[in-house]
Amino acid sequence: MAQTIAISSFKGGTAKTSTALHLGSAIVKYHKKKVLLIDFDAQANLTTGLGFDPDENDSLASVLQEEKTLAEVILPTCQPGLDLIPADTWLERVEVTGKLAADRYSHEKLRTLLSPLKYDYIIIDTPPSLCWLTESALIAAKHTLICATPEFYSIKGLERLAQFVESISLRHPLSVLGVLLSFWNIRGKSNKAFLEVIEKTFPKKLLKAKVRRDINVSEASIFGKPLFDTAPSSRAAEDYLAVTKELLKRL
Ligand SMILES: Nc1ncnc2c1ncn2[C@@H]1O[C@H](COP(=O)(O)OP(=O)(O)OP(=O)(O)O)[C@@H](O)[C@H]1O
Ligand SMILES: [Mg+2]
Repeated sequence: MAQTIAISSFKGGTAKTSTALHLGSAIVKYHKKKVLLIDFDAQANLTTGLGFDPDENDSLASVLQEEKTLAEVILPTCQPGLDLIPADTWLERVEVTGKLAADRYSHEKLRTLLSPLKYDYIIIDTPPSLCWLTESALIAAKHTLICATPEFYSIKGLERLAQFVESISLRHPLSVLGVLLSFWNIRGKSNKAFLEVIEKTFPKKLLKAKVRRDINVSEASIFGKPLFDTAPSSRAAEDYLAVTKELLKRL
């Protein structure tokens, strides 16, 4: 069975999508495993980041509504071994539409859908809020990787996320795989304070590897390709490789 990881953070701009993309890409390219990326955010940034047009492809919304099968929405990407289920705007409020609106257990549906899939890893990108999509992703996943930035509101928000993960893990097996800091500045003045709050909120979960700010990350998304293709010797590529190694060790 695949190891399913939901990337989470309730906050905008914590590099969730970039992390999903580069973690998936690095696992395929450097560790020779099969990975399915799921874009579960109506913004569809992961979809465009891999060079697809969200208006031209069906998302999980049509599978959740039982109009398409999973096999019909899985796309191969530019990287052999890395597949994608794209997002579209229909994902927004999908839970109040059609079949899902009447389903008391709609939160469990994603988990059931994904269970027969044959991948080594399934990585789910979630929206920046505690909505139905995020909750479904956390229920479907066995692990969550929490993304944060070294900023006051980002770090503060972790406490709420910790409570939420805790409440889900009472009903479903869900563990925190790690806390990843992006936009890391080695010389940041408040670093010590941030690291202390993270350690208190998620003891022993902070990843040693951190992702530094690097313009190559946003440039890669313009090309619709992972950094490992567009700027393989950039510092962000190097950081994501270190993050991937550390995470695979924990799994
Ligand atoms: N290490 C980095 N250095 C520089 N820019 C980055 C880095 N990581 C991500 N970015 C850029 O920052 C922006 C936000 O990143 P990303 O989309 O991955 O965050 P997100 O948490 O998924 O955002 P949202 O909450 O809106 O879904 C993007 O334009 C992305 O290209
Ligand atoms: Mg995103």
